[in-house]
Amino acid sequence: MAAIQKDSTETLAACSSVIRAVDLHKYYDLGGARVHALRGVSVKIARGEFVAIMGASGSGKSTFMNLLGCLDRPSSGQYFLEDVDVANYDKRELAHIRNQKIGFVFQGFNLLARTTALENTALPTLYSKLNHLESQKRATDALHMVGLADRMHHYPSQMSGGQQQRVAIARALVNLPAILLADEPTGNLDSRTSVEIMEIFQSLNDKGLTIILVTHEQDIAEFAKRVLIFRDGKIRSDHPVANRPRAAEVLKTMPTLED
Ligand SMILES: Nc1ncnc2c1ncn2[C@@H]1O[C@H](COP(=O)(O)OP(=O)(O)OP(=O)(O)O)[C@@H](O)[C@H]1O
Ligand SMILES: [Mg+2]
Repeated sequence: MAAIQKDSTETLAACSSVIRAVDLHKYYDLGGARVHALRGVSVKIARGEFVAIMGASGSGKSTFMNLLGCLDRPSSGQYFLEDVDVANYDKRELAHIRNQKIGFVFQGFNLLARTTALENTALPTLYSKLNHLESQKRATDALHMVGLADRMHHYPSQMSGGQQQRVAIARALVNLPAILLADEPTGNLDSRTSVEIMEIFQSLNDKGLTIILVTHEQDIAEFAKRVLIFRDGKIRSDHPVANRPRAAEVLKTMPTLED
């Protein structure tokens, strides 16, 4: 009886992971030279977690994020995304699962210049089954969520960096992903704007969204609930954040442009 109970508990625990990586390795072949970028990474991330990834340049953070985001395949190991092992999926299958389950935010916003905030946000729905009206509704809702309802018809050049990044976050949310992946989303932003972006991430996470973000900045990482530190292609440390600050509170103590 005890054994059965233990088994079912373990199964339950496994099912609740939105991400389960098992001994991931990644090699890059560079004309004869071989880079061993990931050297056995195993980690579980449950639904609703908010994880920050830190580590020196070259330690494998982006390589790991690219695997999590189904942009690339591991050289060996297993990657379960919502309990499906996608490590051996081909490019077409990876693209499909990526569109359905993953939202991406990058350091350099990557918005289309001649396209409004609303159109930029709606772009990923082009590959979904939504009709035009449904797409517009989703994009409008996503822009509301990031506090940009009043900028919907603005072009990127008419917005600040922080506003452009918020459009990029709205675009990442528009297909209702299971996970949001952000690789140095505040890397191009000043301190206050960075905290504003973290405020949005915290509020999305409060609503249940699983978020994984790479950052070089300790004070940004502390807005997450858990920090993984990479070194030489491995996870060197994995710990919860104690006394996590609320970005909304921190913003009250920071000077604004008008100050
Ligand atoms: N496409 C690629 N081809 C060849 N080598 C690569 C490629 N991408 C990454 N690498 C190498 O793999 C290792 C890990 O790189 P990765 O980009 O994952 O590091 P990182 O932790 O994201 O660094 P940074 O903080 O500078 O962004 C490095 O040695 C890097 O040079
Ligand atoms: Mg990187």
